[in-house]
Amino acid sequence: MSSELVIAYYDASPDTTRQERWQALLTPLLGTFRMVGLLDAAAEQAQIALVWSPPTGRLAQLSALKLIISLGQGVDHLMREPDLPKSAHIVRLVDPNMSHALSQWVILNILDHYREGRLYRAYRAEKAFIQRPQIETADLPVAVYGMGAIGQVIASQLAGLGFDVHGWSRTKRDFGSQITAYHGSDGFRQLTQTCRCHVCILPLTPETEGLFSAEIFNSMPTGALFINGGRGKQVVEADLLAAIRSGQLGGAALDVFAVEPLPDSHPFWDEPNITIWPHVAAQTNPETAARQVASAITSVLAGKRPENLVDLVRGY
Ligand code: GLV
Repeated sequence: MSSELVIAYYDASPDTTRQERWQALLTPLLGTFRMVGLLDAAAEQAQIALVWSPPTGRLAQLSALKLIISLGQGVDHLMREPDLPKSAHIVRLVDPNMSHALSQWVILNILDHYREGRLYRAYRAEKAFIQRPQIETADLPVAVYGMGAIGQVIASQLAGLGFDVHGWSRTKRDFGSQITAYHGSDGFRQLTQTCRCHVCILPLTPETEGLFSAEIFNSMPTGALFINGGRGKQVVEADLLAAIRSGQLGGAALDVFAVEPLPDSHPFWDEPNITIWPHVAAQTNPETAARQVASAITSVLAGKRPENLVDLVRGY
């Protein structure tokens, strides 16, 4: 039996250079190891799986696995696995670089909406030099749903821009003086009814699937903005479409969809008040994430608990 370190890699992308890039970045941090494709026979010796959206059932076949690392912050792509090896820890990326990227995407969409970017671009096309009144961020209550590592960065960046920021978490938490904290289903209802801008950054779990439905959209102040950087399945898409078409919502900016890539025939494409992004709000950056991946691997090989462990029962 060899004790050689074998890492099985899969990222569901046609770009085959990514695996080599990870290998090159991890080599100075881990020393010698062998990186193999998750679907190769050699993956059966792998102690580590570094994966995004692996084919269902494949991880269950790898009995030597000690650690499964999600190549993204979300782990819903692993939760549909029926039989993850019991002996393996699961960790997700918590990369400050990605949290900042996501907060920049949220800010971009909020400011474009409230500073009327689309209208000014239309004026520009007409060579119309028309000035409109400007919003005051302090008059704009924003709700951030999901106050984990990413949500907290978003909330504090928005507070720094002068927005009136409210953070929602499942259980009671405190986020400091700049962010009003809400929790539980009562807190959720209070926020949907009072905030004018709603930012979803929640993980996909049985509790959050279909959370944003007609009932919730209708409880929001008329003209509210809805931003989703969480997961598409948290939204009842037909209800969002109806809320946009009726004017109940003033706009939506979406990076995630129930089905990705968003099909050509999807009615969202025809709604100018829905801004569509192809799941690019925060892309995994191997350069910044490699250190975290290496540290999880080193901890597990030394018999220690890695950081950013996923709780399979909680679902994130
Ligand atoms: C992206 O959606 C991620 O989960 O990292």
